[in-house]
Amino acid sequence: MAKQEDLFKNVVSHAKEYGFIFPSSEIYDGLSAVYDYAQNGVELKKNIREYWWKAMVQMHENIVGLDAAILMHPTTWKASGHVDAFNDPLIDNKDSKKRYRADVLIEDYAEKLNLKAKKEIEKARERFGASFDEEQYKTTNPRVMEYLSKEREILERMGRSLGSGDLEDVKNLIEELEIADPETGSRNWTDVKQFNLMFGTKLGASAENAMDLYLRPETAQGIFVNFLNVQKTGRMKVPFGIAQTGKAFRNEIVARQFIFRMREFEQMEMQFFVKPGEEMKWYEYWKETRLNWHLSLGLGRQNYRFHDHEKLAHYANAAADIEFNFPFGFKELEGIHSRTDFDLKAHEQYSGKKLQYFDTETNSNYVPYVVETSVGLDRMFLAVFATSLQEETLEDGSTRTVLRLPSVLAPTKAAVLPLVKKDGLPEVAQKIIEDLKWDFNVAYDEKDAVGRRYRRQDALGTPFCITVDHQTLEDDTVTIRHRDSMAQDRVKISDLRQIINDEVSVRNWLMKM
Ligand code: GAP
Repeated sequence: MAKQEDLFKNVVSHAKEYGFIFPSSEIYDGLSAVYDYAQNGVELKKNIREYWWKAMVQMHENIVGLDAAILMHPTTWKASGHVDAFNDPLIDNKDSKKRYRADVLIEDYAEKLNLKAKKEIEKARERFGASFDEEQYKTTNPRVMEYLSKEREILERMGRSLGSGDLEDVKNLIEELEIADPETGSRNWTDVKQFNLMFGTKLGASAENAMDLYLRPETAQGIFVNFLNVQKTGRMKVPFGIAQTGKAFRNEIVARQFIFRMREFEQMEMQFFVKPGEEMKWYEYWKETRLNWHLSLGLGRQNYRFHDHEKLAHYANAAADIEFNFPFGFKELEGIHSRTDFDLKAHEQYSGKKLQYFDTETNSNYVPYVVETSVGLDRMFLAVFATSLQEETLEDGSTRTVLRLPSVLAPTKAAVLPLVKKDGLPEVAQKIIEDLKWDFNVAYDEKDAVGRRYRRQDALGTPFCITVDHQTLEDDTVTIRHRDSMAQDRVKISDLRQIINDEVSVRNWLMKM
């Protein structure tokens, strides 16, 4: 555990030291769970957003984009259920005065049981070797069966209690499991209470005329209220999708784990409108398609798993998370929800406007069902960044820090380095930059010995370093060094664009889907 914590601390400090992420308004001691993306972070974030947009919007003829405003008419949030039901169940510890999410305390407890089961399974795998059958072991070993069935029982009971609003039972569950304050060990708990997560604000100049608004807690509602506008003007035929990326705001009480749980964050969401009755087919389709998008980045299949929801949100008839193995364990990265016709019907009811689709095949109107895919851009950033940050021991015993980002997402694709700051080498390097910058984000670096410059670019995740030396002046060739293997090749300047493109093009990476 200590090792995991160290790893995570390393991620946070590397992100700051190398200009990826800073605490917000740091000169005033920061603002809890709010962060700013710095010069390299903003490039990485933009590249993740573009990778998603290409795959979801531009590669699908039947999906279009939208950029709806953050501020929306307040009735939107009444209709969507967020005013009444977008709550977290909170519990306070009377001794430590610390506030926790009751469901998170219970989920963490259940996760520990799961880890115990996994440990037993791994021990057995080592013992039995190649003949080990994990499924059989899970259903026959009494200890593993007990851990897993207890985990299931706890999560099911919590799901039922939260679903029916029985907060007393949620507290009973915490007491029965003897869950203690993770920081102090105290079990002196208050009752569980609901807390609405939306940030309120006001529109208007004077106090009397001001209108109460909310900062949107999800981008999805901007899509629902524009459903008919887009369908009509785009002549879209069901099934079709509307996608958007943008800021969302939640007054998270338990804000922790760096950019994993923020108060201001960015979502990349797509609502797919389908014929009622076909939603399960599309739900399965999007689960598979979204997982494949993640896998195309090459962070390792073992780092992803599906988690089917026991406790469904007020709008869903099926829901699953794609969980990622973050430095603090498996947690939600993306949600895939079958949202039924809940949202469109609710907006019809509250607005008095019809939000229906005319099916020319059956000559009838219906309210489409919706399958949603929703991934946090900041969580994607954390997943990619934390997994890519590695410490390596080299053959000569020295260590290097390397950020093995998928090169399609790397902030800078190549750094051009003159071997020395004289003899016309900087001028040649600048000429290479002038040519490459039309196609790629490239950097120039002439400070320090070339070895140190290589290390600096490794830590920034730059896939290529191009070194201009005296031979360049004679034959127009340079050395190109590959970040991951550190191998160096001598190549013609005129080939650089193609070499870099082969490695970093969105096309080549998305082809792996
Ligand atoms: N429209 C559906 C929706 O908003 P959600 O599961 O609440 O569903 C979707 O959020 C995704 O947004 C999550 O899977 C996560 O990646 C991201 N997300 C949610 N809350 C977040 C927060 N406080 N900080 C960072 N990302 C968050």
